[in-house]
Order: sequence, then C-alpha cells, then structure tokens
Amino acid sequence: MISFELTEDHEMIQEMVRKFAERELAPNIKEWDVQGGFPRSVLTKMGEQGILGLCFPEEYGGGGMDYISLAIACEELERVDTSFRVPLSVHIGLCGLGILQWATEEQKEKYLVPLATGEKVGSFGLTEPNAGSDAASLQTTARLDGDNYILNGEKMWISLADVADTFLVFARTGTAASRARGISAFILERGTPGFASDTIHGKMGIRAGNTGSFSLVDCPVPKENLVGEEGEGFKIAMSCLDGGRYTVAAGSVGLIRASLEASVKYAHERETFGRPIAEHQLVQQMIARMVRGMDASRLLVYRAGWLKNQGIRNTRETGLAKWVACDEAYQAATDAIEIHGAYGYSNEYPVERYLRNCKAAVIYEGSAEIQTLLAAGYALGTRKDNPLRKELPSWPFKE
Ligand code: CAA
Repeated sequence: MISFELTEDHEMIQEMVRKFAERELAPNIKEWDVQGGFPRSVLTKMGEQGILGLCFPEEYGGGGMDYISLAIACEELERVDTSFRVPLSVHIGLCGLGILQWATEEQKEKYLVPLATGEKVGSFGLTEPNAGSDAASLQTTARLDGDNYILNGEKMWISLADVADTFLVFARTGTAASRARGISAFILERGTPGFASDTIHGKMGIRAGNTGSFSLVDCPVPKENLVGEEGEGFKIAMSCLDGGRYTVAAGSVGLIRASLEASVKYAHERETFGRPIAEHQLVQQMIARMVRGMDASRLLVYRAGWLKNQGIRNTRETGLAKWVACDEAYQAATDAIEIHGAYGYSNEYPVERYLRNCKAAVIYEGSAEIQTLLAAGYALGTRKDNPLRKELPSWPFKE
C-alpha cells in the first residue's frame, strides 16, 4: 500500500519546526546573512527543541522519530534559510547517522548521546583541498603508534568547522594506490592536540552559516575511536553521504517553497500593463515550474525516506532526489528573481539570498555531475550496491 499522508507525528514536527524557524530565525536572517554568521545560541536552541536529535533512537537520547521527519525538519528550516538546514546535514545526516550505523555500542554511548541530546554538535571531514568529487584520492594520513592513530592532513569546505565539537574524519591508513580500500574513519574531538580549525570567508551564499577548514598536525586519536574496521572508511563515508544528500534534497524542497511563496505574493501585488503580473502567462509559467519542481522533488525525497525507514539501501534514490531537488531549487530561485524584476536583485527581498544559497547544493555532497554518473551507472548496470557489514537501522527503532 502506498500512502501519501503525513502521520500526526510528522505534522507535529512540521508545525514545531516551522514555528521555531519563523519565530527565532526569520526575523534575524537578513542581519546574520550580512554579518556573516549566526550565534552559537541558535544551535543550542535547536538542541533544546529536540531538532538536533530528532531521528536518533530514544535509547541514545534522541527523539526516536523516523527519517521522513528529518526531511520535514530540513524543508522547514531551509524555507527560512539554507544556513539553518546545513547543521542538520552535517550533525545528523553525515556525522550522527554515520555513528549510529557504524560505531560500536561504547562509541555510541560516548559520542552519539551528546549529539542526540544537542549537548554537542557534530560535523564531517572528508573533503580536502585536492580531493572533492574524487573522495578516494584523499591524502590525510593516519598511522598507528601505540594506543593512538596519528593524523596528519588538511580538510576543506567543512560545514561548522569552527563550531562543531565532534568530527567524523576520514584518513588514509593504507597506501595511496589502495585508493578507497585504504581509507579509515575516526571520531575526532575538538581540543585534540594538533587540531586547528578556521573559517572560510568570501562565500557567495550560505553566509549566515559557518564553513571552514581544519588541519591535523601529528594529531593523536585514541585507537578506540576508529569507526568500523581499518580500510572500511570509504564505505562509511559513502553511506554517510546517503544521509547527508537526503537532507540536502529535503532542504532544497524548502528553498523551492520559499521561492514560490515569495513569487506568488509579489505576483499578486505588483502590477504592469494595468494588471497584476500574476495575470501574465509568462509569470504563471515560472510559478507553475516551481510547483512542478517542488512536488516532484518532495516525492523523490519522501521515497528515499520511506526506503530508509524500511532499512532498504537507497543510494540510487537518494542521489536522484538530491540531483533533481537541487537543480529545481536553482531554477526556482532564479525564476523568483525574474518575477521580482529589479527588486529581486536587491536584498530588499529575500529571493537574491535564495539564489546565492542554493548554488552550493548543486555542487556539494555529490555534485550534479556525480549524481548524473551514479544514475547512469545504475541504469547501465555498471554500478550496483554491495551489501554492507552494517546497515542504517530501519524505523521504528528496536528497543
Ligand atoms: N554506501 C556504502 N558503500 C558504498 C557506497 C554507499 N553509498 N557507494 C560506494 N560504496 C562502496 C562500493 O560498494 C565500493 O566497495 P566494494 O568495492 O567493496 O564494493 C567502494 O565503496 C568504492 O566505491 P566506488 O567504486 O563507487 O568508488 P569511486 O572511487 O568510483 O567513487 C563516487 C565513487 C561516486 C565518485 C564517490 O567518490 C563520490 O560520491 N564522490 C563525491 C564525494 C562527495 O559527495 N563529497 C562531499 C563531501 S560532503 C562534505 O565534505 C561537506 C561538509 O560540509 C562536511
């Protein structure tokens, strides 16, 4: 049976996050975007509201909600600004769900619980200055020395680099020639000697959010912080991206919705040639395209979420959702500016911010080109999903 209905719990989450975003975030976003950052207290409040722990099992201090709830929260947050959805992508999608899927019970008790309760903020360190789309070429090294792995290297384009407390970091334990098979995953805490983070300035969009880099210089990570087995890190990273890309796709639906809402309002208010521009068919065409993009993208996101709930591998479906939703968001944001005319080009209206914000998502967490290759690979039979040693828990979570 296929149901397109949200449950009462979903509606409750939707209303709670929407009200939170409209009350706490929307009134300040313009200022934070201009200033180049929102205060850390925003994340604290998100934690207090349970948003940062939404879909982690209750046994680890989370809200125990399903994966569709995560999509709903992302949509509501990005409807106000991308900067508020990004923490869910890195904290939940990339870091927390990765720990939930792959870590030992001891590691979950120690690191997942403070993430789920919002006491600590998580992030993810895969990308490097010379390794983006080709993640398997990363150069950061980890060498076992007594009770520690010693990490050396540099990570780049890391969301919340200067804010997060706990990082899921990927480093090479094998030779460069071993590519994907020589990568391992580690939990790294801020404050570890040799760890230093920095913020990247001059970004086109997501200016209210923190993006940065961090360096690791002879950084000792206790060997009990190895996640999974040595050499399993690339699979861990890719499975984390199945979570991260899902949140990016869901957030993009929110950005399309924001573009649509702003455009509909403006189209009714603004008159040209003696009538509201809503009556001009070329304006209607752009609005209809936003509706099409929003509904198609949301359905793709919910399908991926449904698969996650069932515990079924969803790399293909999550990739499609991410690809379509990010492209549609970019189209919606540019059309929203077109509808607003010259006003859309100034920050008197929010739509210029939407366009600046959404371009990043076409690039990060698997660019449109990478998603194209994945989709083609599945269709042509050159790509298939091999079973993993550990899968993301299905929902409802077992006690
Ligand atoms: N889940 C689990 N395992 C997976 C997987 C998945 N989704 N995808 C691939 N694997 C496994 C494969 O099964 C394979 O293992 P086996 O050989 O044992 O079967 C292994 O990983 C290698 O896979 P590939 O052969 O597909 O590897 P590849 O080198 O050809 O790379 C790629 C494939 C799709 C191009 C991949 O490199 C990719 O997705 N690149 C994009 C990286 C990306 O999205 N980066 C964004 C990082 S997010 C970030 O850093 C932002 C931030 O703010 C923190």
